[in-house]
Amino acid sequence: MSDVLEFADVTVTRGQSTLLDSVDWEIEEGQRWVVLGPNGAGKTTLLQLASARMHPTSGVAGVLGEVLGAVDVFELRPRIGLASSAIAERLPAHERVIDVVVTASYGIVGRWRESYDRLDLGRARDLLDALGAGHLAQRTYGTLSEGERKRVQIARALMTDPELMLLDEPAAGLDLGGREDLLARLGALAEDLEAPALVLVTHHVEEIPPGFTDVLLLREGRVVAAGPLEITLTEANLEKTFGLPLVLEQHGRRYSARARDEVAADAG
Ligand SMILES: Nc1ncnc2c1ncn2[C@@H]1O[C@H](COP(=O)(O)OP(=O)(O)OP(=O)(O)O)[C@@H](O)[C@H]1O
Ligand SMILES: [Mg+2]
Repeated sequence: MSDVLEFADVTVTRGQSTLLDSVDWEIEEGQRWVVLGPNGAGKTTLLQLASARMHPTSGVAGVLGEVLGAVDVFELRPRIGLASSAIAERLPAHERVIDVVVTASYGIVGRWRESYDRLDLGRARDLLDALGAGHLAQRTYGTLSEGERKRVQIARALMTDPELMLLDEPAAGLDLGGREDLLARLGALAEDLEAPALVLVTHHVEEIPPGFTDVLLLREGRVVAAGPLEITLTEANLEKTFGLPLVLEQHGRRYSARARDEVAADAG
């Protein structure tokens, strides 16, 4: 079994709906994946499985060498970092930012000696610094802007030193400067050999950080294509994924996409 993630014929159904349909997906250590797809494609459902918060209806979902359904998820979950708006909503608004980050590790071990506390605080500060949020450490979490909260959420998810890090639309709600800054920091994370395997969910090719290696394209619960970014992220695959004629452009290590019709109109 793959070290990080191995899904074989994974299907998730709820009532009459098929949320994921026979998904095969493998993540090796060191890989940085983007999951791209339109609203309702099943991206968040995929992360629910990858974070051991949901089991497949059928098929085999292996995460960090364990098979979902045959492992104590409470032992598995601390090995996985997850930053998502659903988790963010549960963070206490009245807490100081540094505490929001540091308590991520208390959730796991429960009791720490004072010497460990200091190590933890140091790590939390380092992570906030790395995400450009060091100056916010003493602020009350509930007073932060959306962009500032995103950084804190990512720092918190990294606090437990996870082996797999999942980011569900980290750039949603950010302004242009905020998005570009976050992408640069995620790019630095992607290039850090010590960093965990990464999975970033987005709707937009513009939000693929530099340094990401692979892409999984999802439409209506089915995998359209999956593999190395440079050969898998093609105009044809993107059109199949989003269901409209598109122009895809590459600018160095970044991408942009727009509807093909508009291009024709521009050309007169
Ligand atoms: N419990 C449920 N019962 C029925 N349908 C569900 C359930 N949970 C999710 N769905 C549906 O499954 C589909 C996939 O949902 P999911 O949240 O995984 O999509 P997504 O790709 O993350 O979308 P978005 O980009 O909008 O966040 C959606 O159509 C959603 O309405
Ligand atoms: Mg989603």
